[in-house]
Amino acid sequence: MYRTESLKKLALLGAIGKPVKISSSEFTRYTSTSSKTAARVLKQLEDEQYIERQMVAGGQMVQLREKGVDLLKNEYVEYSTIFCRDHNDIDLYGNIITGLGEGQYYISREGYMSQFRDKLGFKPYPGTLNVRLDGPSAEMRDRMAFIRPVVVHGFSDGERSFGGGKCYQIEIEGIKGAVIIPDRTHYPADLLEIIAPVKLREMLRINDGDKVRIVVRDPQRCE
Ligand code: CDP
Repeated sequence: MYRTESLKKLALLGAIGKPVKISSSEFTRYTSTSSKTAARVLKQLEDEQYIERQMVAGGQMVQLREKGVDLLKNEYVEYSTIFCRDHNDIDLYGNIITGLGEGQYYISREGYMSQFRDKLGFKPYPGTLNVRLDGPSAEMRDRMAFIRPVVVHGFSDGERSFGGGKCYQIEIEGIKGAVIIPDRTHYPADLLEIIAPVKLREMLRINDGDKVRIVVRDPQRCE
């Protein structure tokens, strides 16, 4: 146990990726132990190859070794398992519909495309898949307000201006994509517009009227 605690304190002092200078008394303060114990702990961590250190005037230079960083990462994964279950994800159901045919024009503007690539990590198929949510899902969708959106900024292409909006990362039938909600538009509560790196109608072999499941992911809580 002392290992994890001590490594965590050292990491918080900045000892990952580069050495930090600490005196035993500083480390004592952080670990709330006696200086004798602190010195022993540091020596033991060094002997067990969790850290490397070098004595210098007024203290020592300490850096976590790979084994030390790995131990903290394991700890992190365990905490994520405890606190980051899927309960923040939102399950929505709806039917495919045909929209106004405008999605293609908007999505393919470079001012949007570059932001999608940078912020969502994929280059969308030019268009939006429109989904009409069923009654309970239209209500559930309000819970998206608790998820921090990926913000897409408005821009001007010299001729006209394009408004900003919000994106939420989703999976539709297991394929990663995003819901986009334009600012300054009054949006029907039961309509979702989805972008994805692939043409979903082809990939999922779906047509107007078909039912789909959309899982809205909460990246804040779980990644
Ligand atoms: O006409 P509509 O507004 O529904 O669509 P659009 O945004 O112009 O997109 C062209 C077509 O591609 C439509 O049939 C969309 O449903 C479909 N689409 C798709 O299958 N997968 C995507 N990732 C985006 C659009």
